[in-house]
Amino acid sequence: MYNVTEIRKDFPILSREVNGKPLVYLDNGASAQKPQVVIDAITRAYSHEYANVHRGLHYLSNLATDKYEATRGIVKQFLNAEHEDEILFTSGTTEALNLISYGWAAPRLQAGDEIILSVMEHHANIVPWHFLRERQGVVLKWVETDVNGDLDPQAVIDAIGPKTKMIAITQMSNVLGTVVDVKTICTAARMRGVPVVVDGSQSSVHAPVDVQDMGCDFFAITGHKLYGPTGSGAIYIRRDRMAEMRPFIGGGDMIREVSRDVITYNDPPYKFEAGTPGIVQMIGMGVALEYMMNIGMQNIAEHERKLRDYAQKRLTGLNWLNIQGNSATKGAIFSFTLDGAGHPHDISTVVDQKGIAVRAGHHCAQPLMTHLGVTATCRASFGLYNTPEEVDKLVDALELCHELFA
Ligand SMILES: Cc1ncc(COP(=O)(O)O)c(C=O)c1O
Repeated sequence: MYNVTEIRKDFPILSREVNGKPLVYLDNGASAQKPQVVIDAITRAYSHEYANVHRGLHYLSNLATDKYEATRGIVKQFLNAEHEDEILFTSGTTEALNLISYGWAAPRLQAGDEIILSVMEHHANIVPWHFLRERQGVVLKWVETDVNGDLDPQAVIDAIGPKTKMIAITQMSNVLGTVVDVKTICTAARMRGVPVVVDGSQSSVHAPVDVQDMGCDFFAITGHKLYGPTGSGAIYIRRDRMAEMRPFIGGGDMIREVSRDVITYNDPPYKFEAGTPGIVQMIGMGVALEYMMNIGMQNIAEHERKLRDYAQKRLTGLNWLNIQGNSATKGAIFSFTLDGAGHPHDISTVVDQKGIAVRAGHHCAQPLMTHLGVTATCRASFGLYNTPEEVDKLVDALELCHELFA
């Protein structure tokens, strides 16, 4: 375990005030705050180490390339991938999942072919598949969660039929915190030759990931939720799947030769990384992942499990609070509505006055909102630096909301 008081000192923003109160940042599901080591790495990269990568034969270009490429090895370690060339850089999960839709699925799926999704996917793991429905007649097959917000892996496996060409599933819901047993799904899918795309945007932040043990084909992460910069991310693509892919974006760096009539491609993963990438963003993401690994992913998971237990105990004590999907095995993400409060925006506005940042809305998960029978929720999502005292502050602020709106 770690000393959370010491860890908090690594994040300069956590010592600021909001509305005259110490900041309580519970919007980690949307984006996490950055430790000083990441901020310093970005400043250093722009101040002393900056040039374009992969192209120059000068000192700074080589230095920037080495720093940028080092992140590939760090992501490999973070995800326990077998090979470094299975790690492809992206600007985040949205780009990663679009890449799979355009690069892997579009060339091989035909009208009537099916993609299985859970009802709790983020729009980033829905819209790229809808494109295939609109353009190619692909059918989206939805699997529901139960009343606790849990997803039975067997329900996903049972949905696999002769027309199933892909399963696209989150490992952790950004709304409910539900943790999905993707390993069981991947094992069954593999026996049936169906590839699985795992959206690891939330799960990778909160617990160790081992893509080899999981047996997935694709696994996407996004740097800004992992205490790294915006515009950074990566996707693990197993070698055999990468070999099946067609490039999605064309331009510099992804080719070997271009003539008037012919092009030949660079080797994977560079074949899929066209144009000048987010050089400094990727360097920053590498530092963020190292920061997390130094704390220890298991330690982070344990800290957040205790926070979840405590928050669950305190929040379920509020009998006017409707917690959505309050599973005992979920991550430290709580979505709720409040009797009397017209809209979750009202709750977030009141708690903001107490310096507490939560998010209200549909959380880019409208099919889930429909499934839950709500249009929006208020969401408190915890990170490695949050404390039980912050749970208490949230509860106090919610009690104030109850007084105001009841
Ligand atoms: C589960 C999940 N998937 C995908 C995304 C999209 O990530 P990004 O906007 O970083 O591409 C998010 C971000 O909120 C998310 O929570």
